[in-house]
Formats: sequence, structure tokens, C-alpha cells
Amino acid sequence: MQAWVIGNWKQNPATSHDVKALLDDLLTAVSTKEQPDIAGCQLMVAPSFIHLTAVSERLEGSSILSAAQDISAHSASTGAYTGDCSAQQVADAGAAWTILGHSERRQYHQESHDCLLNKMTHALMQNLGVVFCIGETQAQYDAKKTLVVIDTQLAVIKDLLAQKPELIAGLSERLIVAYEPVWAIGTGKVPTVAEVSATHQHIKQTLASFNDALENMTVLYGGSVNADNADSFAVDSMIDGALVGGASLKAESFLAIAQAFSRATA
Ligand code: PGA
Repeated sequence: MQAWVIGNWKQNPATSHDVKALLDDLLTAVSTKEQPDIAGCQLMVAPSFIHLTAVSERLEGSSILSAAQDISAHSASTGAYTGDCSAQQVADAGAAWTILGHSERRQYHQESHDCLLNKMTHALMQNLGVVFCIGETQAQYDAKKTLVVIDTQLAVIKDLLAQKPELIAGLSERLIVAYEPVWAIGTGKVPTVAEVSATHQHIKQTLASFNDALENMTVLYGGSVNADNADSFAVDSMIDGALVGGASLKAESFLAIAQAFSRATA
């Protein structure tokens, strides 16, 4: 199975100049000597909306895909929704995918089940792939509620299939789940590989139970993945790649993570 390593740039870098420098570093490394080392890995980066068009244009023709970090819940195309960007606008900007349901969106923008169901529907109807983030908080982890929380979050996909059965065809190619424990994001704390593996197995089984077409879905781990710990996650057969925040802001660490997952698929 091809691995995915996705960089979530969040509200970084601060300037277009720094975005360009990061892309220069990435493209130079990918197009020259590093390339065979990352052959087993699909790379993708998710810049801020403000940089999405420039990044997508720059990556056109390269092996790196671009994604948005979010889309509007209100309309798939246009409307009076100040501050929003729609799935259609994101696709038009050159992105092929969008992240949805990141814990920072859930936390700071109160994204609910219905909101995420709308966003996922809009994205898929506009032919955007979706990287759907799920994960428990520290309190939920301590209370051993991880799987219960995850089941509630995955119900967005179940409801999508019930409401839009026409989207099932090809969905396994256009939907990736990223398991990101909230307490592991940006903290340097990580669950054990065995814990992540067991949770991923549960996610895969749950998705397959929704529909036969969702057997063997791609499930990524996210939360403090870096060049030093990537190998330990990569060797586990349940972990199909990584969603990377901080370590994606330097080409060197991002590509080291890609190399780890690529090695593991070889
Ligand atoms: P981190 O972020 O790698 O900086 O922990 C991951 C994420 O939020 O997707």
C-alpha cells in the first residue's frame, strides 16, 4: 500500500517569501537525489488559503499534491459567507484535497457533527479528496474513552453514506482518515506504536462495517511525528502514513519522515 505523508502548515509560514523558500527546498530535494528514497510515498502539503493558489501553481507537474486546511460548511460554491472559502474555490485554486475536522478547527471554531457532514459532502461533490481528522483529548484518553470518541467522530462518514450513497463509488480513493490524539499535537508527547496500531485497526474495521467499499482504508497517524520517531510508526502495518504539523515546516524533517514511510513500504 502506498504511504501518505501530509504536511499541515497551519497558519505558517508568515510570508509569501518564506512559503517560496520552503517550496524551493522541498522541490529541490524531491527532484534530485532524494527521489528514489521517497518513491513509496505520496507527499502532500496544506498551506493557508492565502497561499494555496501560489503553492498549487508551483507544485503543478511535481509529485507533491496540495490541499486546503478547511472549506466552507455553508456552500459548496458561492454565497454571502464572509471569511469562508468554498470547495469549488479551493478546487479552482488547484488543490486536489482538503483537510477537515482538525482538532484545532473543532476546538477554536466549534465544528460539530453537522458542520463536518456539510463540509465533507461539499468537498466530495466538488471532487476534492478529504483528509478527515479524528482523535480524543487528554481527558478522554485518561478516561479510556478513545474508541468511543472516535466512533462518534466517524459517524460523520456513516451519515454521509446514508445521505449520499452516490458518493460511495471511488470513496476509498478520496477519503483518508487521520488519527490525531489532541494531546499529542504539538506537544512532543506520543502514544505508543501499539496503542496507535490498535486504534487504527479499530478505525479500519469501523469504516469497513459502514460499507464493503471502505475495506482497507488509508489511516494516518498525526501528533508530534518527527524525523526521529517516524520509523517506529512507519514499520507498523496499520499505520499508512503521517499527518505532520511542526516537522513539515522544514523540508529536511518532512522528507526524512517521508523516507521512513517509503522504506517501510519497500
Ligand atoms: P504536530 O501537528 O505534528 O505539530 O504535532 C500535527 C497536526 O496538527 O496535524
